[in-house]
Amino acid sequence: MENKGVNTSSRTTSTGLTDDLVILFGGRIYPQSKLDLVANDIDIAIKTMKLCKEGVCVGLGSCKVNPNGLQGYYDEEASSMYGYPCFRFKRCQYWHIAQQQQKETVKPRYHERTFDNFEVTADNRKAYEVCKKYAENFHRMTHRGMILLGPPGTGKTHLAVSIHREVLKKGIASVFVNMPNLVNEMLQGFKAGEVSATYQAALEKHLVVIDDLGAERLRDWVQEAIYRLINERYEKMLPLVVTTNCGIKELETRIGGPAVDRLAEMCEIVPLEGKSWRRRRV
Ligand SMILES: Nc1ncnc2c1ncn2[C@@H]1O[C@H](COP(=O)(O)OP(=O)(O)OP(=O)(O)O)[C@@H](O)[C@H]1O
Ligand SMILES: [Mg+2]
Repeated sequence: MENKGVNTSSRTTSTGLTDDLVILFGGRIYPQSKLDLVANDIDIAIKTMKLCKEGVCVGLGSCKVNPNGLQGYYDEEASSMYGYPCFRFKRCQYWHIAQQQQKETVKPRYHERTFDNFEVTADNRKAYEVCKKYAENFHRMTHRGMILLGPPGTGKTHLAVSIHREVLKKGIASVFVNMPNLVNEMLQGFKAGEVSATYQAALEKHLVVIDDLGAERLRDWVQEAIYRLINERYEKMLPLVVTTNCGIKELETRIGGPAVDRLAEMCEIVPLEGKSWRRRRV
């Protein structure tokens, strides 16, 4: 490992903690003899200290050095206290922005749901792989979308939230909307003579994730609003990720044939199967 700037020589420190104190990571002190345990971390810390700067940073989504948003920095206070160079990690600005944006529209139950804590089984392997690849490859020119379809509790929202988060981490605008909630918000808006800000965002943002399409209460204006949303994105060639409990035929009766026809052209259909994970957890 390249060990630039890291003093690894042993010596007694004024704190008397240990005589071969080298580096501080996550609050733990690693002695020279255990340096190999953190060699990779030191490497990342040194690289990120060079690369996580304005004009050099490529955004978290394209970052090959710290895809988890962990960025190394030199801890001056600890270094002068221990008499050796000390590094720590902090989360980078894009990680914080993505966390914040995600929390604005995604409900608390799904705040911690990621690809990492999605358990892969025979029933969901294909969907998991397709979604993960989609999120990894997503870029500003992505046009294709996805319809995650299957019975309750099979992980559709978990995967859709994971895609939304990965896209935000790339610094690309994404909005997550729960369709029944959006319909309620629009209804409240009509009463107050206002246009729903979420609906507007869903028309414009690069990606829109529509959770639970087909679960909204059926009304003529709802069908019209959904058609307008899908058609607008269809014409602008902007992608959507949709989750639904409905099959394609049922979706047609709920949101209308023309809307489903457009979705079918824009999206890959990704089925999920199996028992509900909600019941497995009880
Ligand atoms: N493969 C999995 N590994 C871990 N947790 C899972 C998995 N699939 C689902 N879950 C969890 O089970 C719960 C239900 O999943 P989720 O809400 O994604 O289901 P859904 O398919 O969207 O259901 P619905 O159609 O009722 O909206 C969530 O807490 C989710 O995180
Ligand atoms: Mg769901």
